[in-house]
Amino acid sequence: MQPKRILLIVGGGIAAYKACELVRLIRKNGGEVTCVLTEGGAHFVTAMTLAALSENPVHTTLWDLKNEVEMGHIQLSRQADLVVVCPATADLMAKMAAGIADDLATTLLLATDKPVMAVPAMNVRMWQHAATQRNVATLRASGVTVLDPDEGAMACGEYGPGRLPEPEAIWNAIARSGTAQTGPLSGKHILITAGPTHEPIDPVRYIANRSSGKQGFAISAAAALAGARVTLIAGPVSLATPPGVARINVETARQMAAAVDAALPADVAVMVAAVADWRAADAAPQKLKKDGTGQIPPLHLAENPDILATLARAANRPPLVIGFAAETENIIAHAQAKLARKGADWIVANDVSGDVMGGASNTVHIVTAAGVESLPEMPKDAVATALVQRIADALR
Ligand code: CTP
Repeated sequence: MQPKRILLIVGGGIAAYKACELVRLIRKNGGEVTCVLTEGGAHFVTAMTLAALSENPVHTTLWDLKNEVEMGHIQLSRQADLVVVCPATADLMAKMAAGIADDLATTLLLATDKPVMAVPAMNVRMWQHAATQRNVATLRASGVTVLDPDEGAMACGEYGPGRLPEPEAIWNAIARSGTAQTGPLSGKHILITAGPTHEPIDPVRYIANRSSGKQGFAISAAAALAGARVTLIAGPVSLATPPGVARINVETARQMAAAVDAALPADVAVMVAAVADWRAADAAPQKLKKDGTGQIPPLHLAENPDILATLARAANRPPLVIGFAAETENIIAHAQAKLARKGADWIVANDVSGDVMGGASNTVHIVTAAGVESLPEMPKDAVATALVQRIADALR
């Protein structure tokens, strides 16, 4: 398969520095990038930086005779699989919506016959302004993919939607955009568990937990995008199966353990599931009924198998075994203890004392024998991409 060719237009906003990180991510995932730097963009990042990261010449002006003879702006606009505008400023999107072509970037955008993605970043008021919203609607109606900006504190001191999404999230959107792709995990089998388990008490009642499965599903999606063959063993959750992922549904911890065993061998195991530690020792075959005496039936528990610890010590253990640790205090210390106790290579520890379970974002610490890497809070799919990146690095 051909590597993905991206024409990256870097607009003039403080978020332009994140475009440098995006170039790095595209390259790392096997894509090729050619950058176009607007006059505004050049106030924030240099052509030299983008040229060094992309290992390609950077185009800055429509009036460069040498470039025009060698390449030609029409050809430049069409030789990519995807044109990405990042950051897409209010001004750049207004010009795109109106069809103005008064510099190299806007001329390329008007001349291209390839899909276009815009990644907006601007002050919250500028984003919310009726003019910008009108332009975004116009662009979307004409087929441009306009990503939603993130919400949060801005460089200008205000708060709200308008921040550039994390480079990992932008890369996810690019990878999902349907153009051809090769990935750093092609040829690898990744086994992932996700979601809660349900442990029956009787045919209608069960023991469960608040796990939504979102993080494990996001890792499955990111691993599939990176080219891996993915087996996802999912507890009961109502999430769509990510494209390219083979999903096996289970209910209980014991079913999950059997499914993991059956899915081996694998190159990597990522055990994200919140497996119930205990099950009802004797699940009743019929619904438990009140007997009218007010007596409460006892609930005796039995310990479930530890799927991660069993896998980490198995003869056919995957070369890289990764566990998750949901903690509410002493996160790193608990994770380090868990790493040793379970025999995992990495423990990805997250603080679940807030609304992480079921929420859209996550703050994780990757704990290994070599040390701890703490990632900033980011959307779960960005965490997934960051983790898949590290897995690919570890396997290399
Ligand atoms: N895990 C597992 N099987 C179990 C319990 C946990 O495979 N029966 C895995 C989880 O998928 C996760 C890791 O072990 O990758 C840690 O899970 P966690 O619930 O945080 O650990 P516990 O073993 O429950 O430890 P503790 O109760 O001390 O927090």
